[in-house]
Amino acid sequence: DWTMAAFREEMTAKIREQVGSARVLCGLSGGVDSAVAAVLIHEAIGDQLHCVFVDTGLMRKDEGRQVVELFRNHYNIPLVHVQAEETFLSVLDGLDDPEAKRKAIGKTFIDVFEAEAKKLGGADFLAQGTLYPDVIESVSFDGGPSVTIKSHHNVGGLPERMNMGLVEPLRELFKDEVRALGRELGLPDAFVSRHPFPGPGLAIRIPGAVSKEKADLLREADAIYLDMIREEGLYDVIWQAFSVLLPVRTVGVMGDERTYDWVLALRAVTSTDGMTADSYPFEHDFLSRVSTRIINEVRGINRVVYDVTSKPPGTIEWE
Ligand code: XMP
Repeated sequence: DWTMAAFREEMTAKIREQVGSARVLCGLSGGVDSAVAAVLIHEAIGDQLHCVFVDTGLMRKDEGRQVVELFRNHYNIPLVHVQAEETFLSVLDGLDDPEAKRKAIGKTFIDVFEAEAKKLGGADFLAQGTLYPDVIESVSFDGGPSVTIKSHHNVGGLPERMNMGLVEPLRELFKDEVRALGRELGLPDAFVSRHPFPGPGLAIRIPGAVSKEKADLLREADAIYLDMIREEGLYDVIWQAFSVLLPVRTVGVMGDERTYDWVLALRAVTSTDGMTADSYPFEHDFLSRVSTRIINEVRGINRVVYDVTSKPPGTIEWE
């Protein structure tokens, strides 16, 4: 892709010019955006870049491991892997309001990141994988007066607090352009084409109070759903597919036993930028097969429903 090759060259030159010989810290979230930003910045300034991956324990199955392997083994980019699952779960304990959960996660992310930054001896710049839609969505909604629908947690607030400059090489790009840039930089296709994943992770896919048990249940069920979408060849035509573990238990029957277990909602949407979206029209038979597999294989879930709401009026995530 010639456009992305040109962008790559231009941007690496700009980064070098902006940071000179200073040190840059990059917080990896496990997602595509921060990974692409980190690889691009590493290309520009090499080991002046220090990456910190804060593992919240709220990621999809195997995701943390994949990020660490990609950076350490494939790119040879040094990376500090902070395992903070317990910290995040204890901060979330007892919280059930969506904004309260987001704020708690955002704040904890900053605390954990800041502590690691200190251990690394600080830095003059902070790198972020902010995209163009993040820039506009965080300013206003529908072009109207500024209304916060959801406070997107990235590492907002941190640069001011630590007195750092910001390096945001993806600020002018949309998601599909970030993916093209990622491919241009040699990131594996399976990684680059992964569906978007919110910073607060599974915490906002467990409406109400979050627990380790619920996160584990959701991770198992979600992995089955995504595997089946891949097998069906639908992964790349869907913008985002995921499961939501509802805070509702219903009665079911398994063999000759009565069950009283959780309900799982499946979501899949098409979209070009996440600002508007349509529910994906799966074949009924596919949804039945997903439901059967999840209920058979994941103890604790006995009912599966499909979300047909578009955005607007719904949002993509449930919280
Ligand atoms: P909504 O749910 O607002 O989501 O329709 C639009 C897109 O943004 C993602 N999303 C988030 N990303 N922090 C993030 O980094 C967040 O707090 C957050 N909330 C939603 C969502 O997954 C979708 O791609």
